[in-house]
Amino acid sequence: MLYTNINSQYTTKIRYFRRLLRIYLQKKNMESVIETENLSKNECYEMLHQQWAHLYDHNCPWYSNFSNAAALIKNIFDFWWVGFYVIEKDMLVLGPFQGPIACTQIAKNKGVCGAAWMQEKSIVVPNVHLFEGHIACSSASNSEIVIPIKSQKTGAIWGVLDLDSEHLNHFDEIDRLELEKFCASLGQLI
Ligand code: SME
Repeated sequence: MLYTNINSQYTTKIRYFRRLLRIYLQKKNMESVIETENLSKNECYEMLHQQWAHLYDHNCPWYSNFSNAAALIKNIFDFWWVGFYVIEKDMLVLGPFQGPIACTQIAKNKGVCGAAWMQEKSIVVPNVHLFEGHIACSSASNSEIVIPIKSQKTGAIWGVLDLDSEHLNHFDEIDRLELEKFCASLGQLI
């Protein structure tokens, strides 16, 4: 709870300084952050798929690739929280993520992540406050989408991709379809 309050207190300041840094780096031609302000949602997803095709590295362990995947999504869409939960010993455990601190373990069928794992299907939650059993890692989160990731090697669910937004009703069918496509390509790496 303490950390949640600190997070909301500093979010505006962090965003402001991030913007200043971005402008500075752009001026110096050192910017690795992708500018997406004038792009439509479809164009953003197109960019995600294109960037990912150049970014992933078959010679690296999964956590290196998934760390970059979380950073890429966060960079393009600036969602509140972007991260992975990975199945270990019948629990989902926190994997690479971008955003505020999060709960480290989620049991099967608990929360949105556990439900997506149990049902083996994506879950779009327009309003997390109306989802029974939703696990609130941050009081700023208002809507959420969770996509299961299936390992191409084993054919079994390996983990989930979880995205949180501060806005209600943020995720729609475009997000679901495009993120499922993205997670299918992640499934080839594990
Ligand atoms: N809200 C999720 C928990 C993970 S955090 O959002 C990062 C859930 O209900 O499963």
